[in-house]
Amino acid sequence: MSIKEAMSRFTTGVTVVTTHYEGQDWGMTCNSFNTVSLEPAMVLWSIRKEANSHEAFTQSGSYVVNVLQADQKDTAMRFASGPQAQRFAEQASERTAKNNVKLNGSVAWFECRLAQVVTAGDHDILIGEVVGYGSQDGEGLAYANRQFGVLSAFEN
Ligand SMILES: Cc1cc2nc3c(=O)[nH]c(=O)nc-3n(C[C@H](O)[C@H](O)[C@H](O)COP(=O)(O)O)c2cc1C
Repeated sequence: MSIKEAMSRFTTGVTVVTTHYEGQDWGMTCNSFNTVSLEPAMVLWSIRKEANSHEAFTQSGSYVVNVLQADQKDTAMRFASGPQAQRFAEQASERTAKNNVKLNGSVAWFECRLAQVVTAGDHDILIGEVVGYGSQDGEGLAYANRQFGVLSAFEN
């Protein structure tokens, strides 16, 4: 079994991280998101150093983490490959004051000011201070073993 396979056993949520850089929207599917600190509110995610959007996310200064809802599997797939313009096409969304895209239908969003970049192997860990957030009721999209699903709670 490969290390990638072992890592894929860990069940996560799924997010799409967006930013606005040099007059263009950038977005990518990300499951390395996690919460870090409450006071101040801080969150992290990691980006592959070779990603085309690496410069945008490390230089723009801010980004939005959109936590996907269970019915947003297609959105997760669309933001994982292809040209950036195609990812945002026909995507219902709003903009924050910092001009970052907020995807409609997400169960939560966190707008962050990039606070720290920690280099770790072939990825960079982006630590952000949360400057805005929101949430709505709904089930999150889950991901494990390279498959999407939804978490069903045990009955008490
Ligand atoms: C479920 C899922 C989770 C992903 N999580 C990450 C991640 O945490 N970090 C990352 O760099 N890439 C992640 N990817 C891959 C990126 O979405 C993909 O490489 C990126 O969109 C490629 O675009 P770019 O090279 O044009 O920036 C994930 C893909 C999927 C399908």
